[in-house]
Amino acid sequence: MGKKIRIGIVGAGTIGSVHAEAYKKVADAELVGLCDILPDKLKEKAAKHGVPKTYATHQEMLADPEIDAISVCVPNCSHAPIAIDALNAGKHVMLEKPMTLNANLGRDILKARDASGKILQMGMVRRQYPESQLIHKYINEGKLGDIYQINIKLIRRRGIPGLGGWFTTKAMSGGGALIDIAVHFLDLAMWSANLWNPTRVSAKTYSKFGSPMKSYHYNSMWAGPPNYDGTFDVDDYVAGMARFGKDATMSFQVAWACNAKEEQTMEILGTKGGIKSGEGELILRTELDDKIVDIKPIFNTQSDGFATELTKFVAAINGEGEVPATGEQGVIVMQLLDAIYKSSELDQEVTI
Ligand SMILES: NC(=O)c1ccc[n+]([C@@H]2O[C@H](COP(=O)([O-])OP(=O)(O)OC[C@H]3O[C@@H](n4cnc5c(N)ncnc54)[C@H](O)[C@@H]3O)[C@@H](O)[C@H]2O)c1
Repeated sequence: MGKKIRIGIVGAGTIGSVHAEAYKKVADAELVGLCDILPDKLKEKAAKHGVPKTYATHQEMLADPEIDAISVCVPNCSHAPIAIDALNAGKHVMLEKPMTLNANLGRDILKARDASGKILQMGMVRRQYPESQLIHKYINEGKLGDIYQINIKLIRRRGIPGLGGWFTTKAMSGGGALIDIAVHFLDLAMWSANLWNPTRVSAKTYSKFGSPMKSYHYNSMWAGPPNYDGTFDVDDYVAGMARFGKDATMSFQVAWACNAKEEQTMEILGTKGGIKSGEGELILRTELDDKIVDIKPIFNTQSDGFATELTKFVAAINGEGEVPATGEQGVIVMQLLDAIYKSSELDQEVTI
């Protein structure tokens, strides 16, 4: 057991609640404070999660010497300012995805981390899923050989979150499906395959379903209901290809909404094996004893990715391990996202 780390959560929304419950499973964490700019929500969530202290602004929370570390669970536009304020105030930072709005702001966060000497961890929860850990292990053991192609398909039929709210307002979110959900899989793919050198991108983003908002038909809405007086000025579909030097390529199709079957898969092809995850299954396609075989490992489906990532965050603060997702990797992900948006805007391949 390490030292008890006293935690504050900034943002009492959906993911703030997830962090609050997950910290309760972390032996060395004590959830001390919650902050939100909406007083009623703050009161309700603090009572719901049993959090003793509340703060109306993140500055108030950061001024409290009883807080050692914070989780940043606010809309994307506030990630950089709050993370930088927190690091400057000497607090460790667990930063939800996406790191921020663009790579330049990501570099500003890194500078603040380096000046503070505090811990900064990216909220890339999918890396902690058991199937992701297994893929990473297989690749590190050389079971896939030389990796040369990754295919990502992350398709929602009608899955635009919070139509008209901050998710669909570019000034607050930085973008749509790409920065919101593709970010998870682009990070996962680069981390799994140890490919952290994206060099060129050719991509196109589309906005076909979210606007006009009143003609968007849906069955359920994350972060709903819609706000028809709000804004939709972001992408709801993206397709493209990234190159990693001369060695590897990655193709991706990601939709908040489109007329295709729902799918969430990542496939990594190597000379010795190919692995595909998603749809509740993991398949390693390889050769064994001169035979072509499919291996389907069985893994624990009950593990809690958030509790695992927060356990690792607290352990890193206590000097008991490295952060599982670094700020440097966060900046590379942001560079890739920037390049995808730029390629689409310029209608050409761009160099990173
Ligand atoms: N890891 C994941 O799987 C995952 C899932 C969902 C969301 N997220 C990320 O978490 C973040 C929050 O998303 P959400 O779905 O919880 O949004 P949300 O809208 O449900 O909650 C955001 C909360 O932040 C509060 N807030 C806004 N500005 C604030 C400020 N300056 N100080 C304090 N509180 C402030 C809002 O009042 C709101 O209660 C986003 O960056 C999102 O991308 C991650």
